[in-house]
Amino acid sequence: MERAIKPELRVFPDQEALAEAAARMWREAAEGAVAERGKFQVVLSGGSTPRALYRLLAQPPWHSLPWTETEIFWGDERHVPPYDAASNQRLAREALLDRAPIPAANIHPMPTASAPESDAAAYEAQLRQVFSGCEWPAFDLAWLGLGEDGHTASLFPGDAATKEKTRWATAAHAPAGISDRITLTAPALNAARQVVFLVSGAAKADILREVLQGRLSALDAPAKLIKPVSGRLCFLADRDAAGALR
Ligand code: 6PG
Repeated sequence: MERAIKPELRVFPDQEALAEAAARMWREAAEGAVAERGKFQVVLSGGSTPRALYRLLAQPPWHSLPWTETEIFWGDERHVPPYDAASNQRLAREALLDRAPIPAANIHPMPTASAPESDAAAYEAQLRQVFSGCEWPAFDLAWLGLGEDGHTASLFPGDAATKEKTRWATAAHAPAGISDRITLTAPALNAARQVVFLVSGAAKADILREVLQGRLSALDAPAKLIKPVSGRLCFLADRDAAGALR
């Protein structure tokens, strides 16, 4: 039975305040997870919105976060080499991971050296080792972005990946830009203890209203597939992105 979940929405005056609030949520989740389970397993979002958060976390006072107990995963990746300007891995390494004391072994990028299908299968196998014995990966916190077409991670409207119900990771196709993608699936993301969307800018106002208040189907706006089974769902938006909400 689908859980009726009402997402939390928090609106901030600007991108800076949004990043600060996101960093506080990261710290709360990290300290809680380490206290309870000795580690913090977090999924990074791609795209440009989280760059401000990543850069903030690379600076004091965020150095005091439990970085050595933090394990880094990705929600999706463009199927390009890690040095490519479009790589989500490159964005996170440059903004945060190369500047924080995270052990290299704790960083789990999505492979992009083979075919998308086999790379996705390899990532799923890696996740199943990390979360051995779990029916789904139990991430502590998954960051997500929101595309203007309603996609999140690399779950795009009308793409087969968006309908995937059993795999944890799969190949996907974007309608524009870098077409070949790897993505966590909606059920894998919905197993997280907490999912937080970061949404910034007036260009996202219409789609954010649609996702939170509209009637588009989840397949037409895949961000609507994200309904954590038992976890918390939160949207952090700046005022520009929240400008169309009733
Ligand atoms: C990606 C992301 C994607 C992103 C949205 C929003 O690989 O592009 O994972 O889902 O979060 O497209 O992107 P922006 O933050 O750049 O607007």
